[in-house]
Amino acid sequence: MKILKHSAEVGQWCEAYRKASLGLGFVPTLGGLHEGHLSLVRQARLECDRVLVSIYLNPSQFDSAADLEEYPADLEADLEACRQAGVDIVFLGEQAEFLPEGFQSRVFVEKLTESLCGAGRPGHFRGVCTVVTQLLHVVRPLRAYFGLKDFQQAKIISRMVADLFFDVELRLLPTVRSDDGLAISSRNRRLSTAERKEAVAIGEALQEAGELLAGGETRVAALKEQMTGVLEKAAGCRVEYVEVLAASSLEEFPGGEVSVSAEGVLLAVAAWFGEVRLIDNILFSPVSEVNEVNLETQGGS
Ligand code: PAJ
Repeated sequence: MKILKHSAEVGQWCEAYRKASLGLGFVPTLGGLHEGHLSLVRQARLECDRVLVSIYLNPSQFDSAADLEEYPADLEADLEACRQAGVDIVFLGEQAEFLPEGFQSRVFVEKLTESLCGAGRPGHFRGVCTVVTQLLHVVRPLRAYFGLKDFQQAKIISRMVADLFFDVELRLLPTVRSDDGLAISSRNRRLSTAERKEAVAIGEALQEAGELLAGGETRVAALKEQMTGVLEKAAGCRVEYVEVLAASSLEEFPGGEVSVSAEGVLLAVAAWFGEVRLIDNILFSPVSEVNEVNLETQGGS
């Protein structure tokens, strides 16, 4: 496994792969690798001839210095996980290259960034889009892999890739969860034992609202109430948002009534346990392969 720090060198290797007609799969990460990241890497391993993982703790997408400071990082463990997963190249991004002195260009996606995490974290998605653009330009992969755990991010990047003619196939993969339903996240490591136990409420809230929806409930207020009710029972939980949005536009449903169109309904939560902010979502769709609550399995119409 090659461990490279400079984008020029990474670019040369990727170019060599392209010349040799080797399909390159790319998994961008912030580090602190866990089963969620590794599910993307494994899928890339299955679908591509070569796999590149980037590890770059991008400061421009963190809106709080404390959050950046506290972000779990263990480079040795990350490299070992990559080795075991059969990664070919790890690209260790450096701030001196990604945000050099004099840097002044940004990539910004409009409407999709207004709701959910975009509302509470100003500048976050601009930081994400800018760094993903930089990374895609260096690596120029055949396929890039993102998780639906960050549904809004996946949506925004898909929009950006389409709007700006990026030549890459995006692969968006389902959320990996612990046995108790908590979505796996680097931030889970910062939860105390007690907080970790309470945090399962997020998965439960989404699951229960999903079941209500599958059972025919279409009132957004009722679905939100269900989620809030479950979260409020969890000790120490502070709800940042519970949302029920059209999955295609991330906009609210007119009249507060869900219409289950082919694009689906997104149920999304952001909640704090102590100092740790967690997000999760489920997609409810009659046709999608990635939905976790499905009309057929739930017996809805
Ligand atoms: P990071 O949080 O490290 O996540 C890297 C990728 O792993 C993202 O596509 C994310 O959606 C996916 N992922 C995280 N947890 C997951 C889970 N439990 N199941 C499935 N996929 C999961 O997202 C970022 O980094 C950054 O914003 C980045 C895209 C790298 C740009 O800096």
